[in-house]
Amino acid sequence: MEDLCCGFARIRTALKNRDASVITTMSLKPPPDQTLLSARISVRYAGKPPVLRDVEIEIQSGEVLGLVGQSGSGKSTLAMAILGLLDKKRAQAEGTIRFQDSDLLRLSERALRALRGRAVSLVLQSPLASLNPALKIRTQLKEAWRAHASGSALDCANAIRNCLQSVSLPADDEFQRKYPSQMSVGQAQRVLIAMAIMHRPALLIADEATSALDVITQSEILTLFRELNRSTGMAILYISHDLASVAGICDRIAILHAGAIVECGTTQEIFRHPQHEYTQRLMAALPRILLANGQPRMKTEAATAR
Ligand SMILES: Nc1ncnc2c1ncn2[C@@H]1O[C@H](COP(=O)(O)OP(=O)(O)OP(=O)(O)O)[C@@H](O)[C@H]1O
Ligand SMILES: [Mg+2]
Repeated sequence: MEDLCCGFARIRTALKNRDASVITTMSLKPPPDQTLLSARISVRYAGKPPVLRDVEIEIQSGEVLGLVGQSGSGKSTLAMAILGLLDKKRAQAEGTIRFQDSDLLRLSERALRALRGRAVSLVLQSPLASLNPALKIRTQLKEAWRAHASGSALDCANAIRNCLQSVSLPADDEFQRKYPSQMSVGQAQRVLIAMAIMHRPALLIADEATSALDVITQSEILTLFRELNRSTGMAILYISHDLASVAGICDRIAILHAGAIVECGTTQEIFRHPQHEYTQRLMAALPRILLANGQPRMKTEAATAR
């Protein structure tokens, strides 16, 4: 745990100083070679130009794939398409999303419901908004368990205790009786992650799951994602604006720009040799902290070039 935290801190420093060698020497495991999800998809919302245009994306079993792109580029649209949660009245999706022998775009709502929360799970940005403020967390964890499992009250209680422990939260009665408002944001995010991993999904989608957190809590949650990925082998689609967190957790990174994946490669390749002009601009926009007359000053290459 401590090693990983130090790792993220080193990556942040390396990014600030543009030292790609640190990223190279981090022991990020090589991507495995069994395709879990393979998508080729276009999405258009009614009355608007296409958001995604023939976007191709592959996620290997057990890997952490980063999806990076500016606000409005369609990252959440892609996540919602995978989860079968696109608003059917407003969104028109074409293509295929192959996952575990099914094409998700062609599954019935009933089949999708059986899949969501069991084989594919989602963690969103605002934990306190995602949890029901009126229900104790034990009640919410029970509901998540009962959505895809049947068994005795003891089975349920054991499953809840196990998943709370796996996200490093207290599993005792006192904690389980808390309401969301009685927890810190970091604890609430861990509860959401516990719910999302309760049925051991093959794929977890984290859509800006650390963006609302302070940097220390963010680093702890990133460490948790990485540990869960290693201990359970679940693949993670990690969606974020924050290149530092993406570098710290992802095996590969896909860059989404103007409705298309413009570049995809290992984290080392993307940071060492960004090929596409948009990726290069993203790298140049990473802030560096310079000392000017002994005072810290944030600078980006984009700003320096002017
Ligand atoms: N339900 C909807 N109806 C109409 N347009 C939508 C809908 N959802 C998203 N859009 C539009 O689709 C585009 C992509 O939105 P999306 O939320 O996927 O982007 P994003 O990359 O996730 O952005 P952010 O980083 O801000 O979360 C935006 O122009 C948005 O306005
Ligand atoms: Mg989004």
